[in-house]
Amino acid sequence: MILILSTFGEKIKAVYKNVTIIVGSHSDIGLMTQAVSEVDVVYATADCDDLDAATGTLQGLKKRFEETGKKPIFINTSGTGVLSDDAAGMYPTETIWDDANPDQMETLKPTQASSTCYVKTYIILPATIWSIAKGPLFDSGISNKKSVQIPALIRASLDRGQAGMVGLGKNIWPNVEIHDLGDLYNLLFDAVLSSSANPGHGREAHLYQVGEAISEVMLKMNKGKGGAPTTFTKEEIDKYFNGSSYLGSNSRCRANRSRALGWAPKNTTKDMLASIYAETELVIEIGGGAASEKL
Ligand SMILES: *[C@@H]1O[C@H](CO)[C@@H](O)[C@H](O)[C@H]1NC(C)=O
Ligand SMILES: *[C@@H]1O[C@H](CO)[C@@H](O)[C@H](O)[C@H]1NC(C)=O
Ligand SMILES: *[C@@H]1O[C@H](CO)[C@@H](O)[C@H](O)[C@H]1NC(C)=O
Ligand SMILES: *[C@@H]1O[C@H](CO)[C@@H](O)[C@H](O)[C@H]1NC(C)=O
Repeated sequence: MILILSTFGEKIKAVYKNVTIIVGSHSDIGLMTQAVSEVDVVYATADCDDLDAATGTLQGLKKRFEETGKKPIFINTSGTGVLSDDAAGMYPTETIWDDANPDQMETLKPTQASSTCYVKTYIILPATIWSIAKGPLFDSGISNKKSVQIPALIRASLDRGQAGMVGLGKNIWPNVEIHDLGDLYNLLFDAVLSSSANPGHGREAHLYQVGEAISEVMLKMNKGKGGAPTTFTKEEIDKYFNGSSYLGSNSRCRANRSRALGWAPKNTTKDMLASIYAETELVIEIGGGAASEKL
């Protein structure tokens, strides 16, 4: 039985006939606790910063353990953002987080990673996710098919008529294509269920390269005059990114443990830069002005 908590109940039923849908919000702690306590495996992919959702999930997992004596499996989604610094685009970093290096990982603060004893937790930290998601949930309009960071840069660049970057765009982020990332969730699920496996990155780009690619696309679309991306002013950072220089941070890491599971993402940074044309088309299609989303 697959149980999905969603506000899109009837619509999802039309797409997936064999799932049980609970209609509601993941911020409803009571509902979440009850729903989670009824299953052995929980995936969290909606919003890692929702404290009520996290509280309900943990309470439900605990209840499951107390009722069954078996530790439920919890596959959580975070992001390599927890490894980010405050470079504001001014420099690349030499620090590369390696998830197969326990001594280094243990230097993370408890707010960046933690563990509990009544549940087997696996945390996936996706990097900058890119691409346009395809599949029944996306094609039917239920799920959001675009990511956040690159579309935010595109939206701001379109609005000011010139590709932009935070600071000098020297900061480095890894990136992952959405379907490659989906493969990892499937692999991890299989590995967790097979008792023999013990699941204990890939690609990087300077944000400057993304700015350059946006600039070229805007030139092609007659929406900008091309040329090097320019630094966002303080006013633009406020207007487009809610005052946050997050898109100027560094976040470097290696997915050694995912690769040890056999994860072999197919797409490269070159594919990411090539996808910016389609992402720009989507940002224009969706519209919504310059208002920033939560980064
Ligand atoms: C899942 O991970 C996120 C990001 O690290 C964290 O904020 C959240 O509390 C975690 N969820 C639970 C239920 O522990
Ligand atoms: C993780 O992979 C990198 C290469 O991508 C390698 O240099 C490093 O030694 C690996 N870490 C461990 C602990 O094996
Ligand atoms: C991802 O890589 C695969 C295999 O090389 C390719 O067919 C596909 O077009 C790539 N996806 C994107 C969005 O570039
Ligand atoms: C914008 O920033 C303010 C102050 O830092 C914060 O309270 C608010 O939640 C942020 N809004 C979004 C959409 O991130």
